[in-house]
Amino acid sequence: SKNKVTARAYTNIALIKYWGKVDQKLKIPTTSSLSLTLKDFYTDTSVLFNEKLLEDKITFNGQQLSEKKAERIVNFLDVVRDLAQQNVYAEVSTINKVPTSAGLASSASGFAALAASASKAIGLNLNKKDLSRLARRGSGSATRSIYGGFVEWEKGFSDETSYAVPFEEEVDWPINVVAVMVNQSEKQMSSSKGMQISVNTSPYYSAWEKVSKKALKEIKVAIKNRDFDRMGKIAEENAMQMHALTLSSSPDYTYFDADSLKVMNLVHSLRSSGLTCYFTMDAGPNVKILVEKQNTSKLVSELEKEFGSDKVIVTSAGPGIEYQ
Ligand code: DP6
Repeated sequence: SKNKVTARAYTNIALIKYWGKVDQKLKIPTTSSLSLTLKDFYTDTSVLFNEKLLEDKITFNGQQLSEKKAERIVNFLDVVRDLAQQNVYAEVSTINKVPTSAGLASSASGFAALAASASKAIGLNLNKKDLSRLARRGSGSATRSIYGGFVEWEKGFSDETSYAVPFEEEVDWPINVVAVMVNQSEKQMSSSKGMQISVNTSPYYSAWEKVSKKALKEIKVAIKNRDFDRMGKIAEENAMQMHALTLSSSPDYTYFDADSLKVMNLVHSLRSSGLTCYFTMDAGPNVKILVEKQNTSKLVSELEKEFGSDKVIVTSAGPGIEYQ
């Protein structure tokens, strides 16, 4: 029999977004992306492959998942079984410290933790590059959560060539990410579905591929130079360009809700009054704000005045995959 393996993966926030695939099954993206792994949002997953099981058994935050919700995880386990050339079912138990489906990429930490625990539990000993490639099969954003700090996902062109590389694993730069959790409900349009609609219908899609390539180059320079203003500006613009793809799709859709716009407006007005901060947003209504440490408490008090202290979470750069 095999061993039970537990792994922890942290979520990541993309500063240059991934928003579209050239290959649905292999999740090869249309563009390269760059993210910061965060420290307070993570997933712990334990996997045990057990010859006695007649099907995969999956629990999520202590509850057994319905067949429909388990499907994506079972499909991923099939990829792992394929790779290991073994036909054995698994017991999977996941604890999530990320608000699910609220735009904090729980699928990033989720599939990174599952890739790490399942591959090791089945007896594969993958290096980080191959682990990143495997995590990609679960969810694109999970590709980057193998590493800590600033991480680049090089789009590549095939299963072999599409994986993440660390850009700066140890971040000795006092920056915070402030998450404003305006809405915790499940999103209407999944990112997988949304990005495909954008690829297929947005008239701006080719412009997106062009500008995000340039933004990626520029943000890497800004990070290396510790140029917070430049990094923030590029990240905010890239986020808005991604959301412009949703607005310009057919059918059109958006992840903005009224409170997201309120947060964005507040960031703009704080910035014009001299408090340097920039926002980014993913496939959900919650807004994440980049701020230098010396300005964090001022920003937090402004946000708490408007949205309440239970809605504001301060975090910073986090590590890569950890095994228990
Ligand atoms: C907006 O990784 O959730 O967070 O590959 O279909 O699982 P799938 O999509 P997913 O998309 C993340 C989109 C994003 C931007 C990003 O994280 O780069």
